[in-house]
Amino acid sequence: MNVDFSIKTIDKKSNLSNIKAACIVAGVYENKKLTPEAEALNTQGAISAVIKSGDLTGKVGSTLVLRNVAGVVAERIVLVGLGKAPTVETQNIINNVTFTKVAQSTAQCLATLSAADALITLPLYAENYHAAIRSLVLAMRATAYRCDELKSKPEVVSTGVSKAIFAALNKDLVNAKASLTQGIALANGIALTKRLADLPANICTPTYLANAAKKISTEFKATSVKLSIEILDRKQCQALKMGSFLSVTNGSDEPPKFIVLKHLGGKSKEAPIVLVGKGITFDSGGISLKPGLGMDEMKYDMGGAASVLGTMRAIAELKLKLNVIAVIPSCENMPNGRATKPGDIVTSMSGQTIEVLNTDAEGRLILCDALTYAERFKPAAVVDIATLTGACITSLGHHNSGLFTRHDSVHDQLADQLLAAGVDTGDTAWRMPLGDAYHEQLKSNFADVANIGGPAGGSITAACFLERFTKKYTWAHLDIAGTAWKSGASKGATGRPVALLTTFLINRAEATYKS
Ligand code: BES
Ligand code: MN
Ligand code: ZN
Repeated sequence: MNVDFSIKTIDKKSNLSNIKAACIVAGVYENKKLTPEAEALNTQGAISAVIKSGDLTGKVGSTLVLRNVAGVVAERIVLVGLGKAPTVETQNIINNVTFTKVAQSTAQCLATLSAADALITLPLYAENYHAAIRSLVLAMRATAYRCDELKSKPEVVSTGVSKAIFAALNKDLVNAKASLTQGIALANGIALTKRLADLPANICTPTYLANAAKKISTEFKATSVKLSIEILDRKQCQALKMGSFLSVTNGSDEPPKFIVLKHLGGKSKEAPIVLVGKGITFDSGGISLKPGLGMDEMKYDMGGAASVLGTMRAIAELKLKLNVIAVIPSCENMPNGRATKPGDIVTSMSGQTIEVLNTDAEGRLILCDALTYAERFKPAAVVDIATLTGACITSLGHHNSGLFTRHDSVHDQLADQLLAAGVDTGDTAWRMPLGDAYHEQLKSNFADVANIGGPAGGSITAACFLERFTKKYTWAHLDIAGTAWKSGASKGATGRPVALLTTFLINRAEATYKS
């Protein structure tokens, strides 16, 4: 369900008590202090009494709903705990991690009510706008998200308010609006990413992904942004000698697609950022077949591709002044009589020969040709995004994406920009090492390189494999196997790392613009 977001200007003297709304959301700190907005609600002591009673602690994530409060026109007041009150020294900035939690608990609380609209007065002081409005928009849209289009009768469940209004002081209006625009574009991108990853592999095929990319290019045609698309089929990939990519498609009846989507929002001579997304629409493992338990989840093995498309949608909506090119190799990894076998040797587009010791290490086989293809754009930087290894989940769990780059000053800078974008949005990554010692593990007796490096340091040797194809530009690799998907009761896609990537690109555009 979509939420209609808007901004309402208030001033310090506004009497929030007279505002008609199904609910007003206000914040309370841990030390029992009210926010100025909550103070502006003249509840004739009702809020103070609740705090005094101990029913609301002000702890981050706590919520309490008050109804029929004397002197307040709104039907409900939703009190939300904000944790420790920021001090004068911290300039009233509430940190992003805290605000992400506040936003999530607010969205979840609103979803338990049957309120149609909410006026949100959480502390949106100047320095907080950026994070606050964006986190609230993302949290409310995430709570409202469902992938139920394939249920014959979608369940009717409350997903929160359909209209959310953010209260902003007049002096902050410009910032608030910018932040809202960004939040909505990001939420739209994330929703697209989640839907693509949630759709089953019999619907979301390489052809479906190619059409989804086409849809983005036509949807934003009318705007000032130049979006163009090219979809290479098997023949065109053969002509380019993408022997590694094509070897993965051998066992599948679904035609492969190699998707190139360009967003040229920057100057014509400006070197682009290239995003390369792994688009395996189903990973059975191939002849090195995976065990049956949980194999259904391998429909999200195109999570990298989905996050690249979600990011492209977000920056297109924002008309971002930056040149960004998405490159998505997409196919299925299936076993049949023509499938690639363990021990087969294939020749990549770069000319390097690869001994395929395990057909389940297929992500790197499709990415290496895409990384070679990316050379033609003379990129400022290439970032590949892939659900690449189970080993990355072992190392970092489901909290951080794995970030890999070479260890020199140029790459350290790129790594820092990506890490910072992750911290800013709560979509965090953690840097992992690369190095010659790991490259040793990829030695083959029969070809230039093997496609696996043994069980030790599996996410690192996978990244080292990719590194061999990225010598001509600045490059980073994000392993999102642990972060793109949730298993268990809330099984489904998370939309990560769209927030990280989009924020990284927004920051790059701002830096380019200034210099
Ligand atoms: N798509 C998988 C990685 C993966 C595993 C993603 C679990 C999400 C959850 C990848 O293609 C794969 O199968 N990797 C193998 C590599 C191994 C054969 C060296 C793995 O991680 O087991
Ligand atoms: Mn695999
Ligand atoms: Zn895979």
